[in-house]
Amino acid sequence: MKETLEKLGSEAQSALAGVGSMQELEALRVKYLGKKGEITAILKQMGSLSAEERPVIGQLANQIRADIEEAIAEKTTQMEENSLSERLISEALDVTIPGKEVTVGRKHPITIVLDEAKEIFIGMGFDIAEGPEVELSVYDFDKLNIPATHPAREWTDTFYITEDESVHLRCQTSPVQVRVMEKQEPPIRIISPGRVYRKDEIDASHSPMFHQIEGLVVDKGVTMGDLKGTLNLLVSKLYGESTKTRFRPHHFPFTEPSCEVDVQCVVCGGNGCRTCKQSGWLELLGAGVVHPKVLAGCGIDPGTYSGFAFGIGLDRMTMLRYGIEDMRLLFENDLRFLNQF
Ligand code: DAH
Repeated sequence: MKETLEKLGSEAQSALAGVGSMQELEALRVKYLGKKGEITAILKQMGSLSAEERPVIGQLANQIRADIEEAIAEKTTQMEENSLSERLISEALDVTIPGKEVTVGRKHPITIVLDEAKEIFIGMGFDIAEGPEVELSVYDFDKLNIPATHPAREWTDTFYITEDESVHLRCQTSPVQVRVMEKQEPPIRIISPGRVYRKDEIDASHSPMFHQIEGLVVDKGVTMGDLKGTLNLLVSKLYGESTKTRFRPHHFPFTEPSCEVDVQCVVCGGNGCRTCKQSGWLELLGAGVVHPKVLAGCGIDPGTYSGFAFGIGLDRMTMLRYGIEDMRLLFENDLRFLNQF
C-alpha cells in the first residue's frame, strides 16, 4: 500500500506539471483528491491493515494529499498570473500610434446659398413651407391655371407616375402656393425650396432634376412694387448692393402681369462675356402678380386680396454666386469640386 501511495503521489505531481488549462487542473484535483478519487479509495482499504501499519500509512496518505493540494494551489496561482500578463500584453494600448484622421463633411454649395436665401427671407418675415415632389397634376397644373393644351403637360416634358396623368414628379415648386393658400388665410408670406423634375437632356445648363425656391405673398393691397422691392433686396444681399436687376415682361398662366427677372452678369459686371452670351444679363427667376383665377380657385377672394409670387432657379443662383460655369458640377459629387466650398 505504501508503494501504491508513493506511486500515486509522484504520478500526480508529474501530471500536474503538464497541465495546460484550469479545466485540466480541476479534472486532476477530482481524480486524485475527490470523494471518489484515488487517494480516498486507498484510505477506504485501511481497515485491512495491522495496528502498527495503520498510523504509518495514514500519515503517509495525509502527507501525499497535502503535497498534491499545495501543488495544485501553486499551479493555480501561476496560471492566473500567466493569463493576466497575457491579457496585459494583448490588450496593451499604444498611445504613441498616430490617430485616424477624422474627415468632417461640409455643406454643398447649393445648401450654402439656400441657407443664405432663407436667412434673407426669414428676415423679411417669410415662413418656410414644404410640398411633395410626387405631386397631383391638379396642383401643379389645373389650379395654377395651366391649360390642358400647355406643352409642359406633354409626356415628352413631364415625368408622369400614372397613366391617367393625374400624378407626376412636380415640374416646378409653384404647386406649393396652391397647397398653402388652400390651408391658410391671408396674410401669407412663404418661400418653399425644393427639387423639381423635367425631361431635359443633361448639359452645362440643364439637368432633369434641379432646384427652385418658390415665393408667395398674399395680403390686402399687395402690388408689383412690393415684388420688385422684395426681389431687389434679395439680389443686393446675395450679390452686393450695386448689382442691378432687370424686370422683363413675360407670360405665366398663374400670374398677371408676369415678368422674368435678370441680374447684371456677375462675371463681367454687365459688359458682356461668354457666361452672359454678351448680353450683360443673366436670367434668375420668373415672377408676377398672382392671377385672380388662382386666388379664387384656392378660396381667397380676389376682390379683397392680392399677391405676388416668384420662382427662383436655385442652381442658377448658386452658379452665379460662385462663378460656376457648368451645372453638372453641382450634381456629380466630385470631392475635388465640393471641398472648395
Ligand atoms: N414656376 C415657374 C417656372 O418654373 C416660375 C415662376 C414664375 C414661379 C412665376 C412663380 C411665378 O411663382 O409667379 O418657370
